[in-house]
Amino acid sequence: MKPSSAAPLPPSSDTRISPDALFARTPDLADPDTNRLRAAVRRYFLDTADRYESLFQCLANDEAYVVKPISLRHPLIFYFGHTATFFVNKLMLTRLIDQRLDHRMESIFAVGVDEMSWDDLDDAHYDWPSVAEVQAYRDRVRALVLDLIDHAPLQSPINWQNPWWAIVMGIEHERIHLETSSVLIRQHALKYVRAVPGWAPLPDSGGEPPANELARVPAGTVQVGKAFDDPQYGWDNEYGTHTARIESFEAARLLVSNREYLAFVEAGGYRNHRDWTEEGRQWLAYSQAEHPTFWVKKTQGWYLRLMTEEIPMPWSWPVEVNYLEAKAFCNWKAAETGQPVRLPTEDEWYRLYDAAGLSDPGDEPCAANLHLDHGASSCPVDTWRHGEWYDVVGNVWQWTETPTYPFDGFDVHPIYDDFTTPTFDGRHNLIKGGSWISCGNEAVRASRYAFRRHFFQHAGFRYVVSHVPAEAPAAYYETDKLMSEYAEFHYGDSYFGVPNFPQALAQRAIEAMGDRPRRRALDLGCASGRATFELARAFEQVTGVDFSARFINQGVQLIQTGQLRYTLADEGELVSYKARTLADLGLHDTLGRVEFFQGDACNLKPQYTGYDLVLAANLIDRLYDPARFLEQIHERIVPGGLLLIASPYTWLEEHTPRASWLGGFKKDAENYTTLDGLKDRLAPHFRLLGEPADVPFVIRETRRKFQHTLSELTIWERL
Ligand SMILES: [Fe+2]
Repeated sequence: MKPSSAAPLPPSSDTRISPDALFARTPDLADPDTNRLRAAVRRYFLDTADRYESLFQCLANDEAYVVKPISLRHPLIFYFGHTATFFVNKLMLTRLIDQRLDHRMESIFAVGVDEMSWDDLDDAHYDWPSVAEVQAYRDRVRALVLDLIDHAPLQSPINWQNPWWAIVMGIEHERIHLETSSVLIRQHALKYVRAVPGWAPLPDSGGEPPANELARVPAGTVQVGKAFDDPQYGWDNEYGTHTARIESFEAARLLVSNREYLAFVEAGGYRNHRDWTEEGRQWLAYSQAEHPTFWVKKTQGWYLRLMTEEIPMPWSWPVEVNYLEAKAFCNWKAAETGQPVRLPTEDEWYRLYDAAGLSDPGDEPCAANLHLDHGASSCPVDTWRHGEWYDVVGNVWQWTETPTYPFDGFDVHPIYDDFTTPTFDGRHNLIKGGSWISCGNEAVRASRYAFRRHFFQHAGFRYVVSHVPAEAPAAYYETDKLMSEYAEFHYGDSYFGVPNFPQALAQRAIEAMGDRPRRRALDLGCASGRATFELARAFEQVTGVDFSARFINQGVQLIQTGQLRYTLADEGELVSYKARTLADLGLHDTLGRVEFFQGDACNLKPQYTGYDLVLAANLIDRLYDPARFLEQIHERIVPGGLLLIASPYTWLEEHTPRASWLGGFKKDAENYTTLDGLKDRLAPHFRLLGEPADVPFVIRETRRKFQHTLSELTIWERL
């Protein structure tokens, strides 16, 4: 029924759209008319599946499916099956189906598409199924999805919680692979590819590009980030909020063309390592590159490799390079011109987009080389004008200086929690604007795709001139188990109705201060620092000190970025992602009054003195010499000031030698508690105020395992 790889596409049938129609746009998922919504999803699905299968017609024979185009990626047979298996996997997760279609196919095609680095490829042998077998499997998946689209219960809108999200996700996923597979076809040996009418490149006029000039982008504010009820499909990293004030900068009017880039190549750009980053030099050494990857040097001159053919170099088309090459070009250009030339940040690209007055693709053909509306290749860089610039969207993707990172309010989608999070490693830079083959979500302003900096897509660049350095936003997530548990303990949720412990202690401390002056407070053993911030609601200056620099770092990070990101163990290897800001906790106003230092409570530096309050929370049973601490702490507190000690008195030899315990043993044949020990040690300089009190706390270990502890609080007044 369906074509084999070697057969041409059949003529239009009822499930195939007219080849003249525009490639379906990403649909409005909030359409209240569910019949219309079904029809839109149906068309979107079929349009995508047909186009995807037609792309594989560019492969000349069955061998072309199983020979790897490049060593770092699977052969194309994997991608042929992969987008079908993806549907099955995601439909299982949202329970639209409850059975797999084909265990063998679905084990082969499930995962393994993003190389980990260019030198750790697992070259395991795969026993690939035949092209005909995979086509038959694709047909079964197509029938399954169509049956769901036609008959499964549907409630509008299709949002994150709606099981139909899996269907739309599967379609958008296939559109991503439409593009990445087209790159692999472009990287395949010519003997494995063939021209197909539906994938013909645009003709090259043989013309030269105009000289590239700069045009000023006025200063302005950029707002990005999708609301969770946005009616268009989005990948998780697009959601949340992000606002940035962008200074005025100059942006090249044109993407860098093959002609403009040639000057860098001819100046010895690939031999002179001066202009390359360290990562760029490593890549040069590995790849032995001497020119852009799709350039072909022949005796009769430069040629350009397209998907299925080589053509004499179209000098006016945009050059296609990876980030490392684009960056080296910018550094070279900066040295040549003495100007601060660099790639734009993601925010600057948005500023450019807004300044150019663009909008998402609609029902008309795009006024850009985008969404397969005009042909299956690049075109001259001065074809599509957008305000003062050209190709702000479309033609080829544009590398940015910005490694991808989550917006405020980021959350992962539960059925695809590894789409984005593995790229929050500072090594995947964002590309913007889309290329001639970017469709659906890829072609809208909100899209955020990031690739390894040495990776090739249909991607090039535009340079900017700006005196403002490109700063990389923090994408770091604390993943260490203990650090993450403490981040949650201090800044996360409450469990079982137990109030936040550091916050409760700080409140008790502030109450106990009464009319005493509240100038300076010391949070000793501050750990992640929550009580330090909480005390600063009432004190003029609060210092947090902890033995562990790793803990201190969480407080420092909050001071520097206002934000803390961490993963929480759920079960086994599964985690959830959390972020907390000082603003969320109403602590933003405390910023100027808080500082953190690493220090040893048993051997404090002399400058830590003159405090109205010292808080020692869950500290004394972790000290190697608690008696020494208790006997010296009065030196740090002003007369009339307070010392708060909270501790569960869990003595452990690993922290405190048995001989140094304050209590918790028999003394003169009688029980001697830690409270007894505290009284004896503190008596010369302190008076116990009121009765000891239990303050509970809960530390979350996993979704289903918690530690519930009682810490005994005593309040002491310095005599
Ligand atoms: Fe994939």
